[in-house]
Amino acid sequence: MYTAKEIRSKFLTFFNQKGHAIIESASVIPENDPTVLFTTAGMHPLVPYLLGEPHPAGKRLTDVQKCIRTGDIDEVGDDTHCTFFEMLGNWSLGDFFKKEAISWSFEFLTSKEWLGLPKDKLYFTVFAGDEDAPRDEEAYNYWREAGVAEDHIFFLPKEHNWWGPAGMTGPCGPDTEMFIDTGKEKCCPECNPSCSCGKYVEIWNDVFMQYNKTADGTFEPLKQKNVDTGMGVERTLVALNGGSVFDTDVYAPIMAKIKELSGMDILNDKENKKASRIVADHIRTATFIIGDRRGVTSSNVDQGYVLRRLIRRAIRYAMKLSMPESSIVKIAETVIDEYAEVYKELVENREKILNELALEEKRFTRTLAQGEKEFEKLIAKGITNIDGESAFHLYDTYGFPLELTVEMAKEKNVTVDTEGFKTFFEKHQALSKAGSEQRFKGGLADHSEETARLHTATHLLHAALRKVLGPQVAQKGSNITAERLRFDFSFERKMTPEEIAEVEKLVNEAIQGHYEVVCEEMTVDEAKAAGAIGLFESKYGERVKVYTMGPVSKEICGGPHAKNTGDLVNFKIKKEESSSAGVRRIKATINN
Ligand code: ALA
Repeated sequence: MYTAKEIRSKFLTFFNQKGHAIIESASVIPENDPTVLFTTAGMHPLVPYLLGEPHPAGKRLTDVQKCIRTGDIDEVGDDTHCTFFEMLGNWSLGDFFKKEAISWSFEFLTSKEWLGLPKDKLYFTVFAGDEDAPRDEEAYNYWREAGVAEDHIFFLPKEHNWWGPAGMTGPCGPDTEMFIDTGKEKCCPECNPSCSCGKYVEIWNDVFMQYNKTADGTFEPLKQKNVDTGMGVERTLVALNGGSVFDTDVYAPIMAKIKELSGMDILNDKENKKASRIVADHIRTATFIIGDRRGVTSSNVDQGYVLRRLIRRAIRYAMKLSMPESSIVKIAETVIDEYAEVYKELVENREKILNELALEEKRFTRTLAQGEKEFEKLIAKGITNIDGESAFHLYDTYGFPLELTVEMAKEKNVTVDTEGFKTFFEKHQALSKAGSEQRFKGGLADHSEETARLHTATHLLHAALRKVLGPQVAQKGSNITAERLRFDFSFERKMTPEEIAEVEKLVNEAIQGHYEVVCEEMTVDEAKAAGAIGLFESKYGERVKVYTMGPVSKEICGGPHAKNTGDLVNFKIKKEESSSAGVRRIKATINN
């Protein structure tokens, strides 16, 4: 069995012998790159040098880079996908090009002295060419020269064989990718390495960076031709040892810990196996995010938001596996121990990692407990079926996984309209394609706890604006993302700094008042008689919901809302600007 330590060491030694200087892994949180939330490949920290700036360590570099990619989060649980992985890389900064890159890759993969992989198990892809760059005959010929059979090389279009930055502009170029045949059956007669059926697993990618993609979409030749290669440690271990990434030595102790904490069969039961892999993957990634030298903690924005979702998703799956409280902390301890020798920052930040996980678990458990109360209320109504909307409300507002609702309902002899739930879920997903949502694929809608709190803040803001600026203020629009609220309202002029400060103060006083958010159903006329405001009454038909927050706010609205204004903690106006004639716009945040 090959270990990660051996692979790292072999790779660095090999390229060091070929004149490459060994450099440290950069932070997993990019320092100066607004185009990505995380370092997704070894090239990110090196962009300035790929664009021509001299690197202090020279023109040939090699390293092991910590990477995070959440784009394939739905695939986690299969044999090869991880949201965190280590990428082995070597670079030419305007030095060698395709010939050397390809012959060295082949040597490292096949030579007995290095990985010694059998040639007949290896497959290669090269760029097929299009209007931006020619067909890569050169790369093809170098593979052939190295001894690769004709029918082991495939020409593929840009979507497969082109590598560029995760952002829109920057260094890019055609690539050639290396695959291992897992020995699985072909999925169809045309099955080839571009298939996602799992027969061929990509282990290495040599990118020939010779273009810079400019903002207008053109590909201009770079001053220097670069090579950027990337080989995943975990996948290479799978290629060498067989099995899955979760069977590798880096994961083995983590999986063993999960098995011990769960006590359930995570090896043979398909669902449990997947759940345990998700817990392992997400907690490993969370540990690296918090424990990074530029590490972050859970929040409602950017990296902190991704972290929060990873942790909460892991907790949900841990619950499925009957794992006791604080299990995620124990798993993180195993992750830290496992990587202590290689990534010292995890050891230095041990306390921070464990505290943050414990805290986030506590926060999430509290939300779930509120959901349980809500669930009991539904049951107390004597229903025999929980409709889709209610199930979605539990999920959306309280982070209640559907499976949990179904399970709890079963205990009470109540059914759940899961199809109805899916309809609401899909509608919600379509609506939440903005902000962080876009940057964290995976349909984890549990951010809505934050959305609900921001929504409550919108009501308090609306009330405060009317108090400070006058009752002519009326809502013209509202938009909430997980990070902030945006509120448009009728008003003729710019607000003064004093007015802004006063509005902020009133909202924060309402938050400190810890008013329970009370929802009542009534007719539109009753609502009006009760003094409720709300612009869109007609839309709601006969009966409407009225949300009351102590003496501060009474508004017709569909919800969802926080339970208590105290849940909002701290309200801050970030911007006051014109939206259109006679309409102002406020952007504001709340923090916990
Ligand atoms: N930057 C290239 C990749 O990530 C090597 O595949």
